Amino acid sequence: MRGVSVVVLLTLAVASGHLSVWNKGTYDCGYPDPNSDRPVWPLWQTDKWWWHSALDCKPNGTQSIPSGGSLALEFSSNKAHTSMGQGLLANPTQRPNPWPTGAVTAWGNLHASVYPDDIMGCALAIAYKSDRYSVTPKDFIVFSVVQDCPTKQLQTFQIPQMPACPSGGCQCTWVWVNKYHQSYMSPFACNVTNPNARLSVPTPQVPTDCTNGGSCVSGAKTPLFYGTPTQSFAPLVPIRDTIFQLSPRYKSTWGFNEGAQSVFPSRARAAAAVEKVEKEVYAFKPNSPSRIDVSVGPQMVGFDNPGGDIDNGYLTNVASANDCQTQCVNRTPALTGQCYAWSWNTQSKECWLKGVAFNPVSNPNMIAGTVNRVWVA
Ligand SMILES: *[C@@H]1O[C@H](CO)[C@@H](O)[C@H](O)[C@H]1NC(C)=O
Ligand SMILES: *[C@@H]1O[C@H](CO)[C@@H](O)[C@H](O)[C@H]1NC(C)=O
Repeated sequence: MRGVSVVVLLTLAVASGHLSVWNKGTYDCGYPDPNSDRPVWPLWQTDKWWWHSALDCKPNGTQSIPSGGSLALEFSSNKAHTSMGQGLLANPTQRPNPWPTGAVTAWGNLHASVYPDDIMGCALAIAYKSDRYSVTPKDFIVFSVVQDCPTKQLQTFQIPQMPACPSGGCQCTWVWVNKYHQSYMSPFACNVTNPNARLSVPTPQVPTDCTNGGSCVSGAKTPLFYGTPTQSFAPLVPIRDTIFQLSPRYKSTWGFNEGAQSVFPSRARAAAAVEKVEKEVYAFKPNSPSRIDVSVGPQMVGFDNPGGDIDNGYLTNVASANDCQTQCVNRTPALTGQCYAWSWNTQSKECWLKGVAFNPVSNPNMIAGTVNRVWVA
């Protein structure tokens, strides 16, 4: 059901979930809702990690990336707990001490609070393209790493000297991974300020594991995009389910040293590489689906899908569970995840459309269901 108060929504988002970076460049379908948790959806539909299923969402501005400086970014599971909502939580720049175990910290750093092993580092990456639809995973260059992350709500990143973006700006993303092999992408529109005109854009390589004396990729690297193939892209790094110690992370064992990544070569040295990147840019054709196969999941009588309500997804006087389900099926566009689940109240005839299926909870007056949308290339 619709979480009308901030507290209710936060509880849901924190308990289920995960984090987004919040700044005016965030691709925020919940905009202008100050209580939005849209950028953290979908939570578990990891085939939709690309652009966090928010490619069609609009940002409300551009985040500056200060070349050669530092940048503090806010993380939260809900905009309410950011400077664009009700403000940051207490001591946002401090790592919780003592570290909470068995509970989720208030800003929702999820797995890491329960399993300290999940502090597997995070990073910022940039694609030197203004058009987000033309960006592919291999365009992103990791430029700043914090190994002890996510542990702080307000995290400072060290920024290397960087070349200028195209006039329309760049595309950036915050990336982090956890023990559950979930690879999170939290994209935002960005632009390099005070750029270094002598530097150029390298072609990043896919990082490799160098835990046991293997050789790390030393120069520019892509993020650790891994997991399930997406609707548009295959992952770059394979999952290693059985060997957690070797699974990908933003740590030195994958060639990611702490702090600013000085991976932007001087122009003379990089002329050949730049030419290659430009050719790839112009050769690229965005993917588009030939069709989207829609099917419905089983109707769960006596269950509610809590949380995850989409904008304008609260309907009254809906006669039946089938009608509520049809409303969900008809809610498009599928690629931005408009409706993936629904709940219908048998007594009040209210219908709630949801962008994500959280764990269904028992409720004698409710019927809940899901809608699957499979992208066919
Ligand atoms: C969008 O950005 C403008 C200009 O910075 C600001 O005044 C406005 O409050 C922002 N809107 C939202 C919903 O954040
Ligand atoms: C990005 O910054 C450059 C200066 O480096 C400026 O000319 C350009 O207008 C900016 N673009 C956006 C989209 O902010």
